[in-house]
Amino acid sequence: MAEWKHHRQRHVMRPEININPLYAREGEDAVPRFRLAKEGLLPETAYQIVHDELALDGNARLNLATFVGTWMEPEARRLYTESADKNMIDKDEYPQTAAIEDRCLHILADLWHAPNPAGTIGVSTTGSSEACMLGGLALKRRWQQARKAAGKPAGHPNIVFSSAVQVVWEKFANYFEVEPRYVNVTPEAPYLTPEGVLAAVDENTIGVVPVLGVTYTGVYEPVSEIAAALDQLQERTGIDIPIHVDGASGAFVAPFLQPDLAWDFRLPRVHSINTSGHKYGLVFPGLGWVLWREASLLPQELVFDVSYLGGHMPTFALNFSRPGAQVLLQYYNFLRLGFDGYYQVQKACQDVAHHLASRLAALGPFEILTDGSDIPVLAWKLKKRRPSEAGWDLNHLSRVLRERGWQVPAYPLPPSMEDTTIMRVVVRNSFSLDMAELLLDDVRRSVEYLEGLEHPMPDAPHPGKAFHH
Ligand SMILES: Cc1ncc(COP(=O)(O)O)c(C=O)c1O
Repeated sequence: MAEWKHHRQRHVMRPEININPLYAREGEDAVPRFRLAKEGLLPETAYQIVHDELALDGNARLNLATFVGTWMEPEARRLYTESADKNMIDKDEYPQTAAIEDRCLHILADLWHAPNPAGTIGVSTTGSSEACMLGGLALKRRWQQARKAAGKPAGHPNIVFSSAVQVVWEKFANYFEVEPRYVNVTPEAPYLTPEGVLAAVDENTIGVVPVLGVTYTGVYEPVSEIAAALDQLQERTGIDIPIHVDGASGAFVAPFLQPDLAWDFRLPRVHSINTSGHKYGLVFPGLGWVLWREASLLPQELVFDVSYLGGHMPTFALNFSRPGAQVLLQYYNFLRLGFDGYYQVQKACQDVAHHLASRLAALGPFEILTDGSDIPVLAWKLKKRRPSEAGWDLNHLSRVLRERGWQVPAYPLPPSMEDTTIMRVVVRNSFSLDMAELLLDDVRRSVEYLEGLEHPMPDAPHPGKAFHH
């Protein structure tokens, strides 16, 4: 995709970027767009060119498509600027950054009810995608070890999740050669069910991955029911299949908004959990976490040593160098918000989601699918209409809203439900009730506009395939 975009630009764009004479040095009127210039520019000129081009990007605060943090308070931004030079892998050079990473991991272990938080092991990552890959790799390696120890073949591993799983799991299966087994979601159960899991697993299953906060709709998959079904399977057959919970969003929401829901290390079958610090962890992009309930669940052969304070520090990561600043921002949030602060932020988001859902339902054409009761994400579809009335769909609505700056995606549900197109809003910290009112007003006016058209709108461009973030 990136390459395609690049080629498209090459065909339609001038090969040079013109420089405003106000900023240029004498004789400096243009810079090549697609190759390195021989000489550089003044810092202000280079800044101005990049800055100006970014004006065409969407406004991050109006981006209701993303789960990823778009706002942090000024003190956090100050810390970010101060620590932008820290490389997370330089544990020896930045021992306090390493110590703070470790502290964050123990805070998460405690939040997720590890039986012995001090005995857990985990790492920070660039996001949930890397964290999921590591969680999946540990599952695969442990399964291989167990099979070899039992003298059984270990050539055909599989992993089980629902068809609504995020694309990272498809990638994991592809990159690390594990057969993906999708349990199709249905209108009655748009999530992974225990029955579906039992029908898909066998002795070659390295693990089952329920998602806490399905990307399409925000619903929690029933982790404890799935764990119970796997307990019974083990009693019946001896097959012992672990669970990795993909809590990219939900692992930073459930501890605060649904504290009694047992989805985490309270369930012995849950071996590992990932989350995105940069989603409901409330940090800017570039941070994930993965944690194992006890150190023994992470195969030692996957762990590498880096030097640390003259000694050694175990690391398990896909990247070597990686920014350390986001880890510091996570710790800033832990200090700044505490448990109650996180509760208040997530609750405020949930209240906004509920408000939006009830007002959207009252508008008439929409059927609400999720209202933010799990993670603060709401999704809706168009009610069934007579073909003569159907002059517009959610892709058109998305396009009309974009004219006002709102980025609200419309996309088809995953395979087996792909005939249904939905619209989704991710309510994040800083999306206030007042902004929600402004959005509602624009949705109302956009619907009136679409309803009033004499001819159907041309088809809006849409992702075609399910939307992935
Ligand atoms: C359930 C789930 N898992 C994994 C990911 C990937 O996370 P990241 O964007 O942090 O790499 C996402 C992203 O939306 C997600 O929703």
